[in-house]
Amino acid sequence: MSATRDFDKVSLITGGSKGIGEGCARVFCAAGAPVVICARGREAGEALAAELTAQGPGECHFEACDVSNPDEIERVVDRTVERYGRLDCLVNNAGTHPPHRTIDEFTIEEFEQLLRVNLVSYFAGCKFALPHLRKTRGSIINMGSLVGVMGQQLATTYCATKGGISAFTKALAIEEARFGVRVNAVLPGNIISDSRIQGVAQSENPEELDRLVDSWQWPGRSGSIEEAGQACLFLAGEGASYITGIELIISGGSELGYGIKAPWKLGVDSPEEQYPLPENPL
Ligand SMILES: NC(=O)c1ccc[n+]([C@@H]2O[C@H](COP(=O)([O-])OP(=O)(O)OC[C@H]3O[C@@H](n4cnc5c(N)ncnc54)[C@H](OP(=O)(O)O)[C@@H]3O)[C@@H](O)[C@H]2O)c1
Repeated sequence: MSATRDFDKVSLITGGSKGIGEGCARVFCAAGAPVVICARGREAGEALAAELTAQGPGECHFEACDVSNPDEIERVVDRTVERYGRLDCLVNNAGTHPPHRTIDEFTIEEFEQLLRVNLVSYFAGCKFALPHLRKTRGSIINMGSLVGVMGQQLATTYCATKGGISAFTKALAIEEARFGVRVNAVLPGNIISDSRIQGVAQSENPEELDRLVDSWQWPGRSGSIEEAGQACLFLAGEGASYITGIELIISGGSELGYGIKAPWKLGVDSPEEQYPLPENPL
């Protein structure tokens, strides 16, 4: 999976039992790392940890944790350092995308809860990990999102949390440079994670929706969780020793070029009077 097999950085990956976090755990372990993953669901986490440890050359250990509770994050950081004696890399990845809704339909309480899971948890993870990361001159990788810089339809709350991660990452990179700690963000576009698979499966026509989402990327497909993991492995490794405060976009170029933005006629509500859109001539 990875050319490197001597990557020995002790790594903590939040939300590491499924999706992009699982991709990171797979790639880091295949490269040789001792990895701790945490998530709420014990069954999936323990099964993945056992599988990766059996595969080697790295090893994987699971800790149950709900990142919406900062005390639980602190406990997982402490347990990781107790187990391995140090911490070299924190991947703040656990997060969730609520169903698409207008701002009128989101409540303040829902936004506050999402901030807690998607953004405050990253702050807490960094806060508790940094005393250890300063000792190892380690690094932090914060999983943001392309839509945190691009915006997304019917996703004001999610985009706000992800935009916050981008800004937080840069501010922390400045603050921690004097300690030799690098802080970077990875901004995925569409990655075939568990949540993507579940979301598509619940739609009316899953095959069509998959094809549509795949068409938003220039390679004509969505990314794999391992491709996301490889981007994180690069940022965590010595090859990225001069890189801090960046947003590494892994999106298949989906943000490049023009596309249909406004398939409606201004001021007209009835579908019959919408613009007939021409075939894309380019
Ligand atoms: N997939 C994409 O295309 C995409 C694009 C842009 C950004 N991202 C970002 O990438 C990250 C991972 O997304 P994903 O698509 O891989 O999601 P996913 O497939 O739903 O996996 C999410 C992981 O996080 C864990 N998790 C969720 N809530 C948690 C909580 N409160 N406490 C602890 N663990 C929790 C889940 O396990 P449990 O449910 O068992 O806790 C699971 O291990 C998120 O931050 C997401 O915003 C994803």
